Amino acid sequence: MTPTVAPFPTARFRRLRRFDALRRLAGETQLSVDDLIWPVFVTEGRNTRTPIPSMPGVERLSIDLLVEAAHKAADLGIPAICVFPYTDPALKTELCEEAWNPDNLSNRAIRAIKTAVPEIAVMTDVALDPYNINGHDGIVRDGVILNDESVEALVKMSLAQAEAGADILGPSDMMDGRIGAMRAVLEGAGHKDVAILSYAAKYASAYYGPFRDAVGASGALKGDKKTYQMNPANSDEAMRLIQRDLQEGADMVMVKPGQPYLDICHRVKSQFGVPTYAYQVSGEYAMIEAAAANGWIDGEKVMLESLMAFKRAGCDGVLTYFAPRVAALLA
Ligand code: PBG
Repeated sequence: MTPTVAPFPTARFRRLRRFDALRRLAGETQLSVDDLIWPVFVTEGRNTRTPIPSMPGVERLSIDLLVEAAHKAADLGIPAICVFPYTDPALKTELCEEAWNPDNLSNRAIRAIKTAVPEIAVMTDVALDPYNINGHDGIVRDGVILNDESVEALVKMSLAQAEAGADILGPSDMMDGRIGAMRAVLEGAGHKDVAILSYAAKYASAYYGPFRDAVGASGALKGDKKTYQMNPANSDEAMRLIQRDLQEGADMVMVKPGQPYLDICHRVKSQFGVPTYAYQVSGEYAMIEAAAANGWIDGEKVMLESLMAFKRAGCDGVLTYFAPRVAALLA
């Protein structure tokens, strides 16, 4: 429904753009610290920080430093942190057993954060790629990514994360049937309040490159992820995936990548009206940082504009590597 517009000069849209106070008054969307989920990378060791060259300003942190960072994030008002592990290559196997080791790096990090900073929500990534000798999100046999065997492994992984204290599980694997299977096992094991944020519409994207460097999966990955992640050409399929994951018990849904897929974010929110999140992925971050480092754009302004765009498109929140910088700016 588009309201009819009075003709010029009755309608002068510039009246409400004249100065900041009027622009704020007429603003339709707000970006707040409450919208932020901060993805972080954890590594073994103590007092260790390793820069990630393809993600300037982002570092892998050892658990002790990650706990400090989580404290700062909570103090800034960031509601959630999402933990991604950099796994020792020696622990990667065909069957990915390290994924459900109760004491793997990720589970130790979850436990440490929830003990020291219980007020911040801890989100996880549920996918086998950090533990897979083949770099894939599912179990590979004879070059095929097996769906049902992968779901079994992902369920064990989710349970270990819930037991470590995770508040939100984020299955990013794109196997079919994993949400229902995870939900059933979590209920059965007494983890009825653990939320699932399904990466429901996750595309087979070239924007994930720097992330794969960050978790050490780039070298390992054999082939591509097109048999399980979505075709960037599709939009109706995303709606069917969202509907399916909601029916299976997802509490929240995600669209990933973010900015190139704002049309999908908008469709999801309009059609389902559920808690909807976008992931401003590593490649989006790297592009902004690279252009800013060259002095070609104003990095801070583009960062804020890119995040506002997610809100305008209908997202309830954004996973963004910019989270602490934005939170500090908004404070
Ligand atoms: C792994 C996973 C990926 C990302 C989040 N979880 C990479 C992939 O699917 O290959 C990408 C995040 C980013 O690029 O920032 N399942």
